[in-house]
Amino acid sequence: MNYQVIIPAAGSGKRMGAGYNKLLMNLEGRPIILHTLDVFEKDPHCGQIILVIQPDDEPFFKEIQSRYLKIHLVHGGSERQYSVYNGLKAAVADGIILVHDGARPFIRPETILSLVDSARKHGAAIAAVPVKDTIKKVKDLEVIETVDRSSLWQVQTPQAFRFSVLKSAHERAKLEGFLGTDEASLVEKSGQPVKIVESDYDNIKLTTPEDLYFAEAILKKRQQ
Ligand code: C5P
Repeated sequence: MNYQVIIPAAGSGKRMGAGYNKLLMNLEGRPIILHTLDVFEKDPHCGQIILVIQPDDEPFFKEIQSRYLKIHLVHGGSERQYSVYNGLKAAVADGIILVHDGARPFIRPETILSLVDSARKHGAAIAAVPVKDTIKKVKDLEVIETVDRSSLWQVQTPQAFRFSVLKSAHERAKLEGFLGTDEASLVEKSGQPVKIVESDYDNIKLTTPEDLYFAEAILKKRQQ
């Protein structure tokens, strides 16, 4: 096995406003999560998909699992970080492990391979793109400062790690009660360098309803 991947899919998707898990919403006639799962199911380097789900969605995902070869189902937690930690406990304790949001269906296989290579060499590597907009720090709707854009990157998933690096970062965060918005922030706290692999702007996370329009446009572009 070249790598295994944890896919957190146990969110409620409140910002999408669908009233149910946004990953079950259709994109071009198929649930969003299937677009994401297909990338890893088809990748010969991926040995196992640890799919983290909420108990309410279990009937849906059990049926999916029967049609895929690599899926192992695990229940999630109240925060994304706890969901990933549950996935980690079910993983094979060796080699390279990726974490990839179920809500990012447009990840490219080339980016996955570069991340796996980089994590093998350096211990930790994350997908990111340079920030395009000017970014300002704001308080009470007043600008405090303009941040130097040349050093800013917008971080995505997948994030790839040697298993031992991710496991100890999660255990340390648990002990310290630290809650991060991604895995790399836990790893950074332990002093381990985290490398960047340049990804692309298509690798969006479907979060709010307008993201579905972008997603349809990306799918159309790829079908041409
Ligand atoms: O809400 P957001 O889009 O930032 O969540 C990122 C990913 O983490 C989604 O795929 C979502 O299903 C997952 N998640 C989870 N457990 C939670 C919250 C979010 O697996 N408690």
